[in-house]
Amino acid sequence: MTKYLTVWSSNILKLEKVSKLMSNNIDASVWQNLVDNAKQAYQQAYAPYSEFRVGAAALTTDTKIVQGCNVENASYGLTVCAERNCIAQGVIHNPSNKTVEFTALVVYTEQEILTPPCGACRQVIAEFFPQDALIMAANHLNQQQHWTVAELLPDAFTPYNLINKT
Ligand code: THU
Repeated sequence: MTKYLTVWSSNILKLEKVSKLMSNNIDASVWQNLVDNAKQAYQQAYAPYSEFRVGAAALTTDTKIVQGCNVENASYGLTVCAERNCIAQGVIHNPSNKTVEFTALVVYTEQEILTPPCGACRQVIAEFFPQDALIMAANHLNQQQHWTVAELLPDAFTPYNLINKT
């Protein structure tokens, strides 16, 4: 247990160390599948302006994997990040009449410095992921860093605030 917490607090992990730790009921092979899907999405990135390609893959509560890549625009400001396009795919492919919910998301880049979700994406993640869901940044060097949704955006404004308005 102590070792578990020590590794957890270091925040940077190799995939083989991840299996038990990252569980949240998601095993290492599923994480690897998410990384592979995020890498595949990365290949589709449309990033002619920044040349900063990003891929994302997320796992839905009904165990579907959805993908997204960043899609830039000549107006620059209309660029949409990989994470938000990925979440939109989950919304589109949601088979149930309940709001889609996700349990994990991987952001993949080929940068030596891992890419964390931007502020806008953190807000959109907080809309659809539980507070304890895990978000992982991964790269081509097999480096990984992870955060819970609550760590990325503490005290987020979410649908809960609107449902409980007085
Ligand atoms: N980008 C993402 O897709 N996700 C992130 O988490 C960070 C930034 C994109 C937006 C833009 O196309 C490029 O990376 C550079 O900011």
